[in-house]
Amino acid sequence: MTGDPIRRALDDVWYCVGESRSVRPGGMRAVSLGEEAIVVGREESGALFALRDRCPHRGMALSAGRLVDGNLVCPFHGWQFRPDGACAAIPALARRDDANFASVRLARFAVAERSGLIWVHAAANPNAPAPEAAPPIPEVDFAYCGQLVEILEVEASFDLVALSFVDPAHVAYVHDSWWWRPSKTMKEKVKHFAPSPFGFTMTSHTAKTASLAYRLLGSIPEVEIEFRLPGVRLERITAGEKRLANYTFASPLANGRTALINAMYWNISGLNLLKPVARPLMRQFLGQDRDVLQIAQRGLDRKPAMVLMGESDVQSQWYFSLKREFLRAREAGATFVNPLEPRELRWRS
Ligand code: FES
Ligand SMILES: [Fe+2]
Repeated sequence: MTGDPIRRALDDVWYCVGESRSVRPGGMRAVSLGEEAIVVGREESGALFALRDRCPHRGMALSAGRLVDGNLVCPFHGWQFRPDGACAAIPALARRDDANFASVRLARFAVAERSGLIWVHAAANPNAPAPEAAPPIPEVDFAYCGQLVEILEVEASFDLVALSFVDPAHVAYVHDSWWWRPSKTMKEKVKHFAPSPFGFTMTSHTAKTASLAYRLLGSIPEVEIEFRLPGVRLERITAGEKRLANYTFASPLANGRTALINAMYWNISGLNLLKPVARPLMRQFLGQDRDVLQIAQRGLDRKPAMVLMGESDVQSQWYFSLKREFLRAREAGATFVNPLEPRELRWRS
């Protein structure tokens, strides 16, 4: 990729590329991750693999082919590849042809599955092992009985989408649906923040706003919101034994587009009945973000500068500080050290 590295989505981190159920055993799917085209497949054993989606012969997308006896078969001339990327057969070779295909190999990406989602490691150097010090893949830390996932494509940069996860000032203007924000008055908020691995956490507090979504939990919940690189927002809501996790991720797609992924998990069986109602609300909420982000992106395309002002934009400043430090550490071959300090922030929303 070209351009100023601070403006690009980070390499050497994990990105969510979809739901586990989107790749069945014996199936595969094309995934775009930044400028990389990847085929994610699942062996009959259930194991996932992720390979560069480009046949070395004539550049064909292998995701358009099939998995036969555990090998990926290119639909153009039938070259076969094992899930580890090694070329296993070239059917057109005659017996006396001494072409040596032992060195033909597809780049392989680390792939993992957590809490019903698939994650691919966007390595600057595929085939190399994933660095130990990458931000961890988000997981749900309770036994959930229900899950709801929505994925939207946004025509906006990775940064602009990630910034919307740590932007308290947009909520009153963009997400003013009656069911999320019944009160139209702006109140001053005081929140406490502490650094956490590869990010920062708004420490647990009692939600005073009686949003309908929260009231469904029955009692006043504790809410903790963690942000971490590359673009991960983890909202954890606890009301006694009841748990609700609302996770939001950004993943870079080709041509400056970004996937906006929302995964919600709960351990409250009654909420399963609400799924048909909750899904359109989740879609509406994400659509509100997508619509403003796409329009704002056009303004940033004309002039790619932002003016970050006041305490409601401090988290946005932190996002860039974390990213800059991550890039600096990688460049220097050093361990990432979180540059943030604990802090109280006040804003009106
Ligand atoms: S392009 Fe894949 S086998 Fe020829
Ligand atoms: Fe938003």
